Amino acid sequence: MDTKHGIRLENVSKHFRKGSDVVRALDGIALEVPGGALATVRGPSGSGKTTLINLVAGLMRPTSGAVFVAGERLDGLSPAQRAALRARRIAVVFQMFHLVPYLTTIENVLLPTLAAPAAPGENLAERAQSMIAALGIEHRTGHFPDELSVGERQRCAVARALLHRPEVVLADEPTGNLDPDSARRVLEALDTCRAEGATVLLVTHHPVDSIHPDIEFRLENGVLSG
Ligand SMILES: Nc1ncnc2c1ncn2[C@@H]1O[C@H](COP(=O)(O)OP(=O)(O)O)[C@@H](O)[C@H]1O
Ligand SMILES: [Mg+2]
Repeated sequence: MDTKHGIRLENVSKHFRKGSDVVRALDGIALEVPGGALATVRGPSGSGKTTLINLVAGLMRPTSGAVFVAGERLDGLSPAQRAALRARRIAVVFQMFHLVPYLTTIENVLLPTLAAPAAPGENLAERAQSMIAALGIEHRTGHFPDELSVGERQRCAVARALLHRPEVVLADEPTGNLDPDSARRVLEALDTCRAEGATVLLVTHHPVDSIHPDIEFRLENGVLSG
């Protein structure tokens, strides 16, 4: 494990203003996930998990504090540079999948090629097929999202996120509401990323029994503990 390709948050807070109230979604978080480690953050609904993923993905800026991902300090980057980082090096598995409804499974999985072409020597059409097979949805390659079960949709979204062999994988409740077989396949895919050297941050309030995290955190009311 090394720290260069990992994730580091220094005293990060994210506050939302709601009328005259301030919601402290995250409050002075310090978190370190060394490169190549798989970390879980467990916490109940409303504890700040999605906010944490959005900050690490560079989709949201912290109210205060610094976020480092894959050797980059995110607030030193322009929006275009952050988008470029997400196009290839940082992958996000969203809780709500965000599949494109009029594209088939294989087309959704190949969507990241629009934002970033294949690395030299990589055949992404083959890579897409092998990810689809590894996730056990090869019989759904030509189906549209509304023809898939919830578990199959999430597996499609995971295959898409992992297409470019990202250095950092962020997953927001990727097994929420999935059948046990789909949940196991999704967790195994994240575990394979770790085995291939990626840094994985998984936030969830569901059990993750089929994998063994290197680091486990708890999040309660925006406060992180180790
Ligand atoms: N855009 C927003 N505006 C106001 N409050 C928000 C916003 N996003 C999240 N929150 C609040 O921040 C807290 C943490 O939310 P979230 O990160 O979505 O938690 P979790 O993913 O653990 O359920 C919740 O109280 C939520 O209502
Ligand atoms: Mg959430």
